[in-house]
Amino acid sequence: MKILLENIKELIQVREIAPNKVSGVEMNELPSIKNAWLFLENGIISDFGKMKDLKDIQASETIDCTGKIVLPTWCDSHTHIVYAGNREQEFVDRINGHSYQEIADNGGGILNSAKKLQAISQEDLLVQSATRLQEVMQLGTGAIEIKSGYGLTTEAELKMLRVAKQLEEIFPITVKTTFLGAHAVPSEYKDNKQGYIDLICTEMLPKVAEENLADYVDIFCEKGYFTVEDTHQLLSEAKKYNLIPKIHVNQFNAIGGIAAGVEHHALSVDHLEVLNPEDIEVLKGSVTMPVALPSCSYFLSIPYTPGRELIDAGLPLALATDFNPGSTPSGNMNFVVATACIKMKLTPEEAINAATINGAYAMGISDTHGSITKGKSASVIITKKIPSYGYLPYAFGSNLIDSVIINGELI
Ligand code: NIG
Ligand code: FE
Repeated sequence: MKILLENIKELIQVREIAPNKVSGVEMNELPSIKNAWLFLENGIISDFGKMKDLKDIQASETIDCTGKIVLPTWCDSHTHIVYAGNREQEFVDRINGHSYQEIADNGGGILNSAKKLQAISQEDLLVQSATRLQEVMQLGTGAIEIKSGYGLTTEAELKMLRVAKQLEEIFPITVKTTFLGAHAVPSEYKDNKQGYIDLICTEMLPKVAEENLADYVDIFCEKGYFTVEDTHQLLSEAKKYNLIPKIHVNQFNAIGGIAAGVEHHALSVDHLEVLNPEDIEVLKGSVTMPVALPSCSYFLSIPYTPGRELIDAGLPLALATDFNPGSTPSGNMNFVVATACIKMKLTPEEAINAATINGAYAMGISDTHGSITKGKSASVIITKKIPSYGYLPYAFGSNLIDSVIINGELI
C-alpha cells in the first residue's frame, strides 16, 4: 500500500532524528510542518515535506487532508484490556459511599475480576477483548501494552497472555505484553502470600518464558498487595528470564517502590498518584519513565499524579489509560491527553509528547513509534477539520478523529 496524505494543515511531532524520549523543558516542544504532505509505503513512513516541495509520487491511495491535522497514533503503554465481564456493581457501590480499597478488602476488586477470568473460555475472552481493542484503535491508539494479572492461577494467567498474543496476530496494532501474576494475593493464599510468590517464581515465570508470552514483568507494589521486599524478590527472579520490569507503584501509598523499580532498571513506574520528594529525586538520571494514568484518578476520584512537578524537575513523563474493569473502564487516549492538560496542568505540547514519544519509550518501541520519522511505522491519526492541535485537549468531550492508519492499514 502506498498512501499519500496531502494538503495537511499541520503535520505534528515531526522529528528528522527522533529522540527516544523527551524530558523537562524539551517536553514543551512539538515540532511540526504546516501545509504538509506525508507518504506511507508498505507500512512505513517513507517521506514527508511541505506541499510546495511535493514532487510526483505514485500512490495507490491519496487522502486530501485540507483543514485537518495529522499526528502519530497514541502509544498506550499501560492497559489491562484483556478481562472478563465488568465491575459495574462496584461502580455503583462507590457512588453509594464505599471506597475502592474497602470493596477490595471485602472480596471485590481484582479478586472479583479473577473469578470471572478463571471461569471464561479463551474464545469468549478473545471476543470480549477484541471488541475493546477495536474501539481503542478507532480512538487513535496504534500501539498498546497489555497485562495479565486477573488470572492469578498459572492456567488463567497463561490464558490472558495467550489472548493478548492472539490479538496481536489478528489486528494491525502493535502489542507488547506484560506478565502481572503479582497483581493481588488470591484468597487461597490469603494467609500464605509467600506461597503465592513462590508459585509465581517457580511455576508461572518459567511457563510464561517458555511460551514466550511476555516482554515485561509487573507487580502491584502497594500496602495490602505486595511489599518492596516482594518486589525485589520477583524482579530479581524475572531478570533470569530477561523480563524487564514495568511496575504499579505509589497509587495509594508511597512505600519505596519507585526506588526498587529504579534499582532494577524498570522501563517504567506507573500510577504515582502519591509521591514523596525522595521519589522524584530517585527518578533523576535513571532509565525509568514515570507514567501517569489520569483517567484512573478521574474514575476513582483519587489525586492526579503531580505531572507538572515531575516535568518541572527535569524528568520525562508518559501518559497511558490503564484500561481495566475496576479503576478505569476506558481506553480513550484522547480523554487522557485532555485530562492531563485540564487536571495536571500539562500544556498540549507536553501532553502530546507524553502520549506519543514518551509512551513509545515506556513500552520499548521508540525505534518504531511515537513520532513522524522516516522509517518508523506508518501509524497516524487524521483529525477532523480543527483550528489547531491545542483544540484536541480543549474540546475534550468531542470525537475529533476523522480516520486512523495503523501500521499502514486504514482502520
Ligand atoms: O492499575 N492498581 C492496580 N491495578 C489496576 C486496577 C485493578 C482493578 O481494580 O481491577 C490499576 O488501577
Ligand atoms: Fe494498571
